[in-house]
Amino acid sequence: MSTQQPRKPRVALVFGGRSSEHPVSCVTAASVMAAVDRDRYEVVPIGITREGKWLVHDGDLSALTFSGSQLPQVLGEGVEVAVPLSQEERGLRAVGHDADGAGLRDVEVVFPLLHGPFGEDGTLQGMLDLADVRYVGSGVLASAVMMDKHYMKVVFAAAGLTVGPYQVITDKDWCRDSQAALDRCAQLQFPLYVKPCRAGSSVGITRVEHAEELRAAVEAAREHDPKVIVEEGIFGREIECGVLEGHHGEPDRASPLGEIVVEQGHAFYDFEAKYLDGDDVRLSCPAVMPEADAEHIREQAIRAFHAAGCEGLARVDFFYTPQGQIIINEINTMPGFTPFSMYPRLWQEAGISYTDLISELIELALERRTGLR
Ligand SMILES: Nc1ncnc2c1ncn2[C@@H]1O[C@H](COP(=O)(O)OP(=O)(O)O)[C@@H](O)[C@H]1O
Ligand SMILES: [Mg+2]
Repeated sequence: MSTQQPRKPRVALVFGGRSSEHPVSCVTAASVMAAVDRDRYEVVPIGITREGKWLVHDGDLSALTFSGSQLPQVLGEGVEVAVPLSQEERGLRAVGHDADGAGLRDVEVVFPLLHGPFGEDGTLQGMLDLADVRYVGSGVLASAVMMDKHYMKVVFAAAGLTVGPYQVITDKDWCRDSQAALDRCAQLQFPLYVKPCRAGSSVGITRVEHAEELRAAVEAAREHDPKVIVEEGIFGREIECGVLEGHHGEPDRASPLGEIVVEQGHAFYDFEAKYLDGDDVRLSCPAVMPEADAEHIREQAIRAFHAAGCEGLARVDFFYTPQGQIIINEINTMPGFTPFSMYPRLWQEAGISYTDLISELIELALERRTGLR
């Protein structure tokens, strides 16, 4: 007779990946690995190399930090992981190894700590749906829409939220007549923000003051994505709100608000300001503003979350103008998730520790059924 305790849910932390945010994801994984509640969950770290190979990591992720001379990355060593694309097999498989030996047997939930394309954009979510494996966060549609800075605006506007003026340059537009595309964008009020539609961490974004800089900015964005969005610059404070799904159909929850304060030396909240120049940015929480406006922003955050059918978590980012106007900038379905990132900080302000937030997200994923929801 077996006297075994009920087994703890087994969680696969998936990190790294093919997007330009690979190093950020590695750092996040190290933080989550250190904080996840081991009394409640068994954890298997799985790193995805820049080439897209899934490998079981040895469990010690402490070397994955921004402190060394090189950006952290997943190296090509470890047992390779496959995701079987049928319901019968469920879970993850080890290539050439016994799944149990590799710690992969009966993985109940995948926690995709991935930012950007091929992770936060619905591709990974679709693969896990095919395999009937639960995962933390939004499903295919919400992930895909909220990865695309163009389509997210379409959805926000349809939900009655205010978005700033913008133009989209598709690859076809650019190849057919790049000058016509630039002329169309030059109608917007400068300064402009030129961005790859499907990137993150401010990668590939240029602030453009004059029309003659526009072409180079579009070319720079196109290095990351053939689809480019050009937005009018909005003068306002950057205010962010965390949304956490409710349990078992309970109302979804909006966090206290945070503010990004970028010190001098950065034209905007760029990659260096976000990750490398720790002193130049302050995440201020709670953001100081009239309570009625704060409440309004929280309501809009929930509305944006519902508009695309987000699940689990999202961080909703706004501009708050000196006139009190609230303009939505974007949703991140897998927001920065180190203990110092805005999303966990906002929930800490609401009384949910980093460890408890991780548990919340895993529980929400376990509650959810697989397949169409
Ligand atoms: N339309 C805009 N007006 C003013 N600032 C902007 C605008 N778009 C982006 N920014 C600045 O650039 C930063 C990164 O842009 P964002 O759209 O949030 O891209 P990412 O997905 O890379 O975070 C913002 O946090 C803000 O500082
Ligand atoms: Mg942003």
